Amino acid sequence: MPTAQAAVAGRSGGLSGEADRTVFGLLRALADVVLVGAGTVRAEAYRPAKVGQRWAGLREGRAPAPPIAVVSGRLALDPASPLLDQAPSHARTILITAESAPADGRAALAAKADVIVAGERRVDLWAAISALTALGYRRILTEGGPHLLGEITEAGLLDELCLTVSPLLTASGAGRIIQGAGSLTERAGGRVRDGCPWLTCWRTRGTCCAVTCAGQVTRGQVTRVTSTQVR
Ligand SMILES: NC(=O)c1ccc[n+]([C@@H]2O[C@H](COP(=O)([O-])OP(=O)(O)OC[C@H]3O[C@@H](n4cnc5c(N)ncnc54)[C@H](OP(=O)(O)O)[C@@H]3O)[C@@H](O)[C@H]2O)c1
Repeated sequence: MPTAQAAVAGRSGGLSGEADRTVFGLLRALADVVLVGAGTVRAEAYRPAKVGQRWAGLREGRAPAPPIAVVSGRLALDPASPLLDQAPSHARTILITAESAPADGRAALAAKADVIVAGERRVDLWAAISALTALGYRRILTEGGPHLLGEITEAGLLDELCLTVSPLLTASGAGRIIQGAGSLTERAGGRVRDGCPWLTCWRTRGTCCAVTCAGQVTRGQVTRVTSTQVR
């Protein structure tokens, strides 16, 4: 279940709006773990996830917030960064790396995060997902970025893609939301209202998210939809 990407000045915040933030918060509240590439962690200065009061009921029986699981081969991450240094014990950050990762970096980061080794030269996404599932993380939300999302798609691990199309014209140097050879197989409806982002959902497996432009959430249905074509 990935959210998808573009950027203004290298970060995604400038593209967002109330409805998009609602979707973002809801998806995190639903997730058992948030899977993200190290490129996005570095560009967006990731911090531990927090789930707002609005969605607290969705976490019943689970930790108050999902941990962030970072996919990285080089492990060029700052151990003093909030993501590694300030993660609560119930959502300790997870690093997913390969055997080839620099040993010193791995040792330094292991004090601050749980480390999963999945693959030899690069992270094997199937092994990574299996390891997360074995730890009890079954609802896996990936927030990209494009290269990780491309690998996940190519590996056939993508169930659903949630995409917000922001009503903003920008000339940033962002690539496509999925970089790589993967392809998606199904397109679901979205919605458009004046001044609002288009919230859409592609499904390859599973069920679609459901949030209105006004930020209202329904069970399994997008309400007040104007059907739209997004290319
Ligand atoms: N608009 C949005 O919603 C949104 C969302 C996400 C990202 N973005 C933007 O996307 C940009 C970053 O894009 P990106 O494609 O570079 O980021 P990315 O996919 O998050 O990160 C790529 C990095 O992830 C690691 N990685 C991925 N697959 C791996 C594998 N199989 N084995 C080992 N390591 C693996 C590598 O890290 P190491 O280099 O550490 O080895 C690689 O350099 C940023 O500008 C960000 O703001 C936008």
